[in-house]
Amino acid sequence: MSTLPKTLTFDTSTSRANPTPQPMKRLTVPRIRQRKGGEPIVMLTAYTVRMAQLLDPHCDMLLVGDSLGQVIYGLPHTVGVTMEMMALHGAAVVRGSYHAAVIVDMPFGSYEASPEQAFTNAARLLKETGAAAVKLEGGRALAPTIEFLTQRGIPVMGHVGLTPQAVNILGGYGVRGKSDEEAKAIVEDSIAVAQAGAFSLVIEGVLESIAIEVTNKVACPTIGIGASAQCDGQVLVTEDMLGMFERVPKFVKRYQDMAGVVEGAVKEYAEQVRSRSFPTEDQIYAG
Ligand code: KIV
Repeated sequence: MSTLPKTLTFDTSTSRANPTPQPMKRLTVPRIRQRKGGEPIVMLTAYTVRMAQLLDPHCDMLLVGDSLGQVIYGLPHTVGVTMEMMALHGAAVVRGSYHAAVIVDMPFGSYEASPEQAFTNAARLLKETGAAAVKLEGGRALAPTIEFLTQRGIPVMGHVGLTPQAVNILGGYGVRGKSDEEAKAIVEDSIAVAQAGAFSLVIEGVLESIAIEVTNKVACPTIGIGASAQCDGQVLVTEDMLGMFERVPKFVKRYQDMAGVVEGAVKEYAEQVRSRSFPTEDQIYAG
């Protein structure tokens, strides 16, 4: 397989990009790290080129999350997501963005076995996508792996609290840290991940007090999801905040009713096709 970057050209003559955004200087990992305690960091998920183009001007980071397993592929959870999926969607998001730092999730099974396994797969993701960094889930057990990667040129975003890849251990997606013991473990995990060199840390689905304590204790920016407005930044799954799904977690705010918008447009189209009122003369090539 070629290791040449697949992301550095953007063929506007064959794509629907219109107009092509002016190339801007991308945010870098060190600049994100410097935002600790400063201007809040805006992150959303993106899996496709067009969505990346729309989100890019407004976001500091675009996360090619393994949530694409459910959102794009209809999988029951993220455990079935593959390296191929992450590489292809990661490359599409890099092609569609000019400003935001793009972070690609390492899928379940691609990094847990050893630091060497993690390096091989993380390096592949960076080469094949052009992304700035990878994200991986886990606490103290993964700290040696995070250190191994960061010392070898691979920036890592950590992910603690509710870690969806561990759904088979956790038994679901409930809020984490309700017992003192679990709260203490999440704080210790966060500190270990940050000290291992993570440049930022997603904290998902925890009691707010834990998110605040972690944010105060770690040197890198925290990115909350179902955590606290006191985190250094926030992330949501874009399709959740756009209202594409009927059921979303409590922590999601719906900023639009995209499902309703799509349904309305498709219903109108179907009616017009059936009544032969589409296409009209505006849409046909008259000789
Ligand atoms: O996969 C994902 O989209 C994520 C975010 C929800 C943080 O990990």
